[in-house]
Amino acid sequence: MRKFWIAALGCGLMVVGTAQAADLAAGKASFEKFNCASCHGADAKSPILPTYPILAGQHQDYLAHALVAYQRGQKGEPASANVRKNAIMGGMAMQLSANDIENITAWLSSQNTPLSVHPQEFK
Ligand code: HEC
Repeated sequence: MRKFWIAALGCGLMVVGTAQAADLAAGKASFEKFNCASCHGADAKSPILPTYPILAGQHQDYLAHALVAYQRGQKGEPASANVRKNAIMGGMAMQLSANDIENITAWLSSQNTPLSVHPQEFK
């Protein structure tokens, strides 16, 4: 009986773990569905203008923070380090659920990236 409960607990933990893991395929699909690619490029590193940020390979928590900050800005919160005021991205970010943000940012951060910092640039 004790073995049964240990096994049952193990299964329960596996189910919870799976439910919380970001879904990379869903993230890629959402990036396409919400037309993010129309500005950032289908590979998230070929933006239509050179001043638009490259998203591929960026840290997931940074990207998620940015998207939530655009949502806050769009809701009228005053600008701060945690609030981004941007007319384009405010509208885009408002369409995203917390789940969309988790999946999209997980997919973006898993991509190869041209972003880099060279040690001499710190000097
Ligand atoms: C119409 C063009 C356009 C579309 C469509 C668009 N973006 Fe953006 N995105 C931008 C621009 C421009 C910026 C830079 C805005 C700024 O200066 O804050 C940006 C910034 C971002 C940033 C912050 C990046 C950083 O390095 O700080 C993220 C994350 C992002 N976009 C994700 C998305 C996602 C996800 C979608 C789709 C839901 C999307 N974008 C759709 C133009 C666009």
